[in-house]
Amino acid sequence: MTNCLLQTRGLTARYGDFQALFGLDIEVAAGEVVALIGANGAGKSTLLKCVTGLLPTRPGMVMLGGESIAGLAPHQIVQRGVAMVPEGRRLFAGLTVEDNLQVARDHARRLASGEGPGWTFERVYELFPVLSEKRRVAVESLSGGQQQMVAIGRALLCNPRLLLCDELSLGLAPKVIGEIYAALPVIAAEGTAMVLVEQDVSLAQRASSRLYCLLEGRVTLHAASGKVGREAITRAFFGGAAHAMA
Ligand SMILES: Nc1ncnc2c1ncn2[C@@H]1O[C@H](COP(=O)(O)OP(=O)(O)O)[C@@H](O)[C@H]1O
Ligand SMILES: [Mg+2]
Repeated sequence: MTNCLLQTRGLTARYGDFQALFGLDIEVAAGEVVALIGANGAGKSTLLKCVTGLLPTRPGMVMLGGESIAGLAPHQIVQRGVAMVPEGRRLFAGLTVEDNLQVARDHARRLASGEGPGWTFERVYELFPVLSEKRRVAVESLSGGQQQMVAIGRALLCNPRLLLCDELSLGLAPKVIGEIYAALPVIAAEGTAMVLVEQDVSLAQRASSRLYCLLEGRVTLHAASGKVGREAITRAFFGGAAHAMA
């Protein structure tokens, strides 16, 4: 792949004796939106944890811009342009919307992260106007969708080259899912690559150019999102022969 930003090569991961990933080969080009689908427990969040340094990897297993991230601490990986919107959002309760964003921006400045586009509060509020109205409101009194917007804004303030999103749509109403997914092309237009972990397959397909399906820690499907049929996805999701894209 030309212009490869993220590459995993034979990526394995364990939690103690339990092996969660078995030799994953995944690539994401600069500026590309890739979806990662798969049932609960397939290993999607584990893969993201390996890329963000929350789980250890061996040299060469995770390459970012051609360099191995093995041995780097999570904050050093943020410095190299990777930000995550974690499952469950993990905002700072008791702080307002703007304070949550401020903490993220200050942290990003301390790390001097930001080879990517120059995100500011104003641009985050432009992306999600409702956050501007709620800027002085404590995050716990926001709706789930609004909290998800704060989590995305917080990640963007690190100016990532690569944004990892873990189950953005989980537990949210269709209307707000639509609003959040409508923001993704705006983010991608800045040249930020994205990995979208998503259990809603149609949503994942519409939002991405390529997709990978994981099943029990292995890639069971790699395909162009617009071309792959429902039957192949179902087989990859629940078991059956693996399919590869030429
Ligand atoms: N902290 C952990 N300790 C032990 N096992 C874990 C831990 N986190 C995840 N697992 C296991 O690893 C596998 C993959 O989990 P995960 O990556 O969270 O899946 P997904 O995000 O696709 O739902 C599952 O079998 C899960 O039970
Ligand atoms: Mg998960």
